[in-house]
Amino acid sequence: MLLQLDGNGPLHRQVYASLRDAILAGDLRTGARLPSTRELAAEMGLSRTTVQLAFEQLLAEGYVEGRVGSGTYVAPGLEEARDSRPPADATDASRLSSSGRRILEVARPLLSNRASGRPRPRWDFRHGLPSLADFPRRSWRRHLLRRARDFSLDACDYGAAQGSAELRDAIAGYLTRSRGVKCTAEEIVIVTGSQQGLDLTARLLVDEGDAVLMEEPGYEGARSAFTFAGARLLPVPVDEEGMRLDAEQMNARGVRLAYATPSHQYPLGWVMSLPRRLALLQWAERAGTYVVEDDYDGEYRLGGRPLAPLRALDRGGRVLYLGTFSKVMFPALRLGYLVVPPALVQPFARAKSLADGGTPMLEQQALADFIRSGSFERHLRRARARIRERRAVLIESVAKHLGDRVEVVGADAGAHVLLRLRGWSTARGHELARRAAGEGVGVYPATPYYLKPPRQAELVLGYGSLNHAQIRLGIKRLAGLMTRA
Ligand SMILES: Cc1ncc(COP(=O)(O)O)c(C=O)c1O
Repeated sequence: MLLQLDGNGPLHRQVYASLRDAILAGDLRTGARLPSTRELAAEMGLSRTTVQLAFEQLLAEGYVEGRVGSGTYVAPGLEEARDSRPPADATDASRLSSSGRRILEVARPLLSNRASGRPRPRWDFRHGLPSLADFPRRSWRRHLLRRARDFSLDACDYGAAQGSAELRDAIAGYLTRSRGVKCTAEEIVIVTGSQQGLDLTARLLVDEGDAVLMEEPGYEGARSAFTFAGARLLPVPVDEEGMRLDAEQMNARGVRLAYATPSHQYPLGWVMSLPRRLALLQWAERAGTYVVEDDYDGEYRLGGRPLAPLRALDRGGRVLYLGTFSKVMFPALRLGYLVVPPALVQPFARAKSLADGGTPMLEQQALADFIRSGSFERHLRRARARIRERRAVLIESVAKHLGDRVEVVGADAGAHVLLRLRGWSTARGHELARRAAGEGVGVYPATPYYLKPPRQAELVLGYGSLNHAQIRLGIKRLAGLMTRA
């Protein structure tokens, strides 16, 4: 079996993607036996570990199943997923431009985060999703309906590409009040989710071959956007103080941008220390580069002292502060914002016009009202309190059932933690995640976020959308599986 690798990202990811696509396209049918990792590695001239990691990812995501002693087989039940996809020949990559073909490749990892229509595990520690049940839908609906009722002819015209002035003003007030980010409506550009913010940033600031410093492990949405722009990604290791630039990286030539998640490193969860924040800014000023500060869930600061965002410390106009309503409202809203240095406002507004002409106005206006009425911050206070309670239940359950078999990382902020499984290899961690899924417990290996996978097993556990009983039972079941493994 000879696989077509696309040259994008780490090798194990390429092997995984190629096999997954063959399964989804129906080229590998239910029950088909995959070659052994040894055979495939030899045939492709790859290391066995690379192929093993790819198989583990397929196992963890349920595309294949392993039968002890008799190999790996395509899992049943994927017909539905196949049927809902366009026919295999609907995408003719040869008809696409070279950048069109690149889009097909770089956007692939982003789809894994979407609702797939497949049933979700009963105790699903999926991360990146807020508690939708806690969202005050009635209040939001009221604001939305009021704006819809008052809809005037004026409101039908093209709006400003930079976004509704009312919403920008409301966001500027909120950021100044609550996040310590002093800014004005003029410095804000509304985007259709922070993913668009990353895409516009890459288009405006990154040329083919430019270096971009990325946290390792890091957010695939940012990695995809910068890769599409032709960036060379330079992985920067992360420790409990956040991104750790070494002297070589600080002096590297052609660095246009650094991407960081200081409030809650994605996915490890650590909070960047103040000295590291200051060092990153000093470096950016010296090197004349920009720093994208992705504050995707900074509102959920749960323990320790709040630290000023990079944007609040920035004296040299080097920071592009990126925020989203996906984690504090709901992701289908597709609203986010960038606070950019004055010299970049016009370029971003024009890039936004080019990309989509501007974000729809009705939701922007309703959101402006939602913020101005106090409903947003009231919701945030409640959501933070609930997440804090859930975190306490999670930590208590982990201590009770898993004890020192695991290390809990990054619990001071956000709504997910990372579990390091002491003495477990990544391969065993993937196998555990696969088995757990079979028992209705969704836990997610951190491997996809790494360019170079770690040795020790790490699982990302989101708990923001689970109730206390679900957290307790999910962890208890996970512990049972670990004991039996
Ligand atoms: C690091 C990071 N940034 C941003 C986002 C949010 O993206 P969006 O605003 O496009 O929904 C996520 C969502 O998972 C994320 O994990």
